[in-house]
Amino acid sequence: MEFISNCTAGAISKAAKALKDGHLVAFPTETVYGLGADATNENAVSQVYAVKGRPTDHPLIVHISSINQISKWAIDIPDYAIKLARDFWPGPMTLILKRSDLAKDFITGGQVNVGLRIPNHPLAIALLAEFESLGGHGVAAPSANRFGAVSPTSAESVSQELGEFLNGDDLILDGGNSEIGVESTIIDCTRSAPQILRPGAVTLEMIQKTIGIDIGFDLNQSTIKAPGMLINHYSPKAKVSLDTIAKPGEGFIAMSEHSTPEGAIRLANPKNIEEYAHILYKALRESDKLGIQNIVVIIPKGSGLAEAIRDRLLRASNSNKL
Ligand code: TXA
Ligand code: MG
Repeated sequence: MEFISNCTAGAISKAAKALKDGHLVAFPTETVYGLGADATNENAVSQVYAVKGRPTDHPLIVHISSINQISKWAIDIPDYAIKLARDFWPGPMTLILKRSDLAKDFITGGQVNVGLRIPNHPLAIALLAEFESLGGHGVAAPSANRFGAVSPTSAESVSQELGEFLNGDDLILDGGNSEIGVESTIIDCTRSAPQILRPGAVTLEMIQKTIGIDIGFDLNQSTIKAPGMLINHYSPKAKVSLDTIAKPGEGFIAMSEHSTPEGAIRLANPKNIEEYAHILYKALRESDKLGIQNIVVIIPKGSGLAEAIRDRLLRASNSNKL
């Protein structure tokens, strides 16, 4: 594996060519880092599953560089999905649409729908555009972590997480820390109204404003499966407890207005909800590095991005109880 810290135009074309040749390229996005492969190359995609240790019936999001590419991958696209795409792409939103023939079972986990996203990061967009200029159609990219673990928000985290599983010709592109820090909002667009499958930085309020109707927030309403949404995802090695009192030697994550219990190790001190999302995964990784066994997290209140953070924290804490 080669780690490229200075991503010049030359590095981008090398990475696009590597993808076209069937190798893997981990790249930055504004949400988290992705582990990319040519979404039409079955061998390359199977490598992604192997490197992640992920079951093959868990579908991958196809990343594209522009809105014109939607119709390559999806059919019967509802008007509200076009509105969402116009308002929030490039950005932290994945649309689940009825698939075209290009989206094979090895991308969709055998489902009849495909997930699409245009990420909002200059390196990602440059890479996707260059890949398309070489004849590529889209880059399948799950978060660049081992199955069930915390998503990486920096290139160093990708290297620590997956370095030993990548091959000699695979690349990691360094584009700094992911701005948002939690994964994209996933929206089921296969029915008459959109349904949120995974909360993220594109919030319920933003979606409702764009489409002009009230859709409500109920993760259980959709009939579509997003198999990655297991109850025990996003977990560090440490046990995560929510809204309890941290004991001496335990890790502690909370908004800055909460003071650190005596003897606890403060892992994050965010001043607002954006900062909370931005540093959460880094703080969870840091605790593993420090060998901390227990982390207490005070969950943020409110709607919007707080919803996404609560969702991930519940999953992180659940896994310890299974
Ligand atoms: O922010 C993100 O979305 C990041 C960056 C790299 O783009 N990607 C990401 O991918 O989080 P992943 O694979 O770690 O999580 C994607 C989720 C999984 O839960 C998967 O089941 C769901 O999206 N998904 C993907 N395609 C789907 C489909 N066709 N139908 C239902 N769920 C789908
Ligand atoms: Mg993931």
